[in-house]
Amino acid sequence: MRWLVTGGLGFIGSNFVRLVLRERPGVEVVNLDAMTYAGNPANLAGVEEDGRYRFVKGDICDPAAVKEAIGNGVDAIVNFAAETHVDRSILDPEAFLRTDILGTHVLLEAVRERGIARFLQVSTDEVYGHVAEGDSSETDALHPRSPYSASKAGGDLQALAYHTTFATPVLVTRGSNTYGPYQYPEKLIPLFVTNLIDDREVPVYGDGLQIRDWIYVDDHARGILHTLERGEPGNVYNVGGGNPRTNMEITRLLVEDCGRSMETHVKHVADRPGHDRRYSVNCAKLRGLGWQPLTPFEEGIVATIAWYRANEAWWRPLKSGEFLEYYKRQYAHR
Ligand code: TYD
Repeated sequence: MRWLVTGGLGFIGSNFVRLVLRERPGVEVVNLDAMTYAGNPANLAGVEEDGRYRFVKGDICDPAAVKEAIGNGVDAIVNFAAETHVDRSILDPEAFLRTDILGTHVLLEAVRERGIARFLQVSTDEVYGHVAEGDSSETDALHPRSPYSASKAGGDLQALAYHTTFATPVLVTRGSNTYGPYQYPEKLIPLFVTNLIDDREVPVYGDGLQIRDWIYVDDHARGILHTLERGEPGNVYNVGGGNPRTNMEITRLLVEDCGRSMETHVKHVADRPGHDRRYSVNCAKLRGLGWQPLTPFEEGIVATIAWYRANEAWWRPLKSGEFLEYYKRQYAHR
């Protein structure tokens, strides 16, 4: 079998590629990645030597690049390629519409034209929008509230519409907030850990009582693999950690583990516009297919902090150049 993974140099994508090469000896992986700021070859260091891995540099919005990556044919496409950071989508929405909607459309057309047996769209619980109480189920209406989540919802709906209209064999996963090794240090956990290692303040938006359901990246990657292999085309599967925490709880944990203090290192800054207060997903459907998250948060977070401590050579170069400009634009006025 040969699978095309898009965005395989990103955070969840690279963890998925490693998982597949490790645990599915009969599968070859083609990785199509545009190498944007978040697509980092160092995320797959060592994998280039694997004879079952092929890399193609290109944009999912470009049909010629998609064609080249498909080559003689693939048995499945797993679409990780996306603009993913909510704060960047507030600063500059257009890239999100392009990659997350138009890019998904280009891949769906390729799936249709080439008769590819499976297309899995990696999505997010953010498409459900803020949920005041209870859990979001796969059949719930979508209420995305940021340019990012609205773009992801656009991609999901295109995929599901292709299933309805053309019987395209699509699957959609909606994952919750993910943490672990190789996450670009703009997201809450890697940003805070790397700031704290450097003895810098961490910027908490508003009161910090927003709730996210955190899942370890390996559990998320396994959820996607499980859906690809056992899911029913035309269906959506939530992939959550079952581990709700406020941002302040996360912050306290990171501050303490890094040996800093809340008084000196936490700065409450202006809230994110349209900030969703709470996400929560019901994962009974994927659990019913035999998947479950295996890494308890207490273990995963300690391992993650240790990974960032041990891998300064990975993240230090990322916190320079473009990142510093972004950081200034995003945080200087708050
Ligand atoms: P983030 O990692 O950006 O993921 P998402 O917005 O997709 O959930 O943020 C997680 C939570 O942390 C979210 O409620 C916003 C908050 N946050 C901060 O308080 N400060 C920050 O500097 C960042 C990046 C996030």
